[in-house]
Amino acid sequence: MAEFLTDIKEIRARARQEIDKGPITSAYGADLQRVVQVCNEALATELVCVLRYKRHYYTATGIYAEPVAAEFLEHAAEEQEHADRLARRIVQLGGEPDFNPDTLTARSHAEYDSSLDLVEMIKEDLVAERIAIASYTEIVQWLGDRDVTTRRIFEDLLAQEEEHADDLKGLLERLPEAQRR
Ligand SMILES: [Fe+2]
Ligand SMILES: [Fe+2]
Repeated sequence: MAEFLTDIKEIRARARQEIDKGPITSAYGADLQRVVQVCNEALATELVCVLRYKRHYYTATGIYAEPVAAEFLEHAAEEQEHADRLARRIVQLGGEPDFNPDTLTARSHAEYDSSLDLVEMIKEDLVAERIAIASYTEIVQWLGDRDVTTRRIFEDLLAQEEEHADDLKGLLERLPEAQRR
């Protein structure tokens, strides 16, 4: 194991400099502005996901709608938590969380969807989850050990998006053949 070489006096001295940066110290290894930008894109993605799941929850109809709608509602609440965690982190990093509705869908990786067919809704949600999974996987790899806290947030989000995708796949499989097409 490599030795921990940093001089404690040096760490203390550096910590006193630039205290207006809060938790960001000279040990921060990532490109701060780019990290804030990437977090804002993920925030937009999560907000669009909240809206899509809510839309699907309120408009799901048919004899199979009830358990599916319950899943939509649960996912909407979890996407909202994801958005909140990202917004909090952006502020910690000294950035501004972008909640501007005018530019939301353009900044989001995943898309909004207003299908009225239950199976279409599930498929669109599954696609959106797969987009989030692919982009969060890349973000985790990109951050590496240069910003461990932000990486950990994306790792948590990634694990939950994988659960969401698995839930949706399960729903599709449980719907009768005729419904699935
Ligand atoms: Fe999410
Ligand atoms: Fe999700």
